[in-house]
Amino acid sequence: MNSLEILPELISADQSVPRLGVLASGSGSNLEAIARAIENGQLSAKIALIIYNEPEAAVRQRAERFDIPAILINHRDYKSRQALDREIIKQLKAHKVDLVIMAGWMRIVTQVLIEAFPERILNIHPSLLPSFKGIHAIAQAFDYGVKITGCTVHLLSLEVDSGKILKQAAVPIFPEDTLEVLQKRIQVQEHLIYPQAIAEYLKERSAKGLGAQT
Ligand code: GAR
Repeated sequence: MNSLEILPELISADQSVPRLGVLASGSGSNLEAIARAIENGQLSAKIALIIYNEPEAAVRQRAERFDIPAILINHRDYKSRQALDREIIKQLKAHKVDLVIMAGWMRIVTQVLIEAFPERILNIHPSLLPSFKGIHAIAQAFDYGVKITGCTVHLLSLEVDSGKILKQAAVPIFPEDTLEVLQKRIQVQEHLIYPQAIAEYLKERSAKGLGAQT
């Protein structure tokens, strides 16, 4: 069996491949990388839904280009993080999502969401975790003067940017770099490792006999 094949346990009732729900707040370049990996057969999955929280986020246009349903759930409309997460869960379940993919989702997630999708939420972070957690990871690595940074795909846990690491890529920082140049270099690696990490994680779950809903 190759890495992209899936066992019946992972198959949703009405689909032949695992269904991904992508959460994004920004440009959506990682969403695009995942969608392209699906298109060219590197990842056997379907993006069932994109949820975005910023009305002007460019991810919406990318979703349109790939003909993927996208729903705006504006966090400003909810009284608490838990209430926001409950609405997200409602939409993810309505779209029969098996695996949640956080691709530049800039909201702190609560136990409510984690319990609804135990070990089924992946995140990407622009540093070599556990170094440089938080929203300014690239700038912090840059300012600190580290010579090697990178990006990390990990399982989501309650503590921000923690959780089991699934895949990492190292990225050098050169003396002449600007923050923008470094960010682009990191994103090149993100776009490579995120689809791979998703495929490998689906394979790992299959090997353990874990179904999509367990
Ligand atoms: C990515 O670089 C991702 O690592 C980062 O947001 C960017 C989203 O880019 N995530 C975090 O910083 C989470 N702590 P994209 O919208 O172009 O995919």
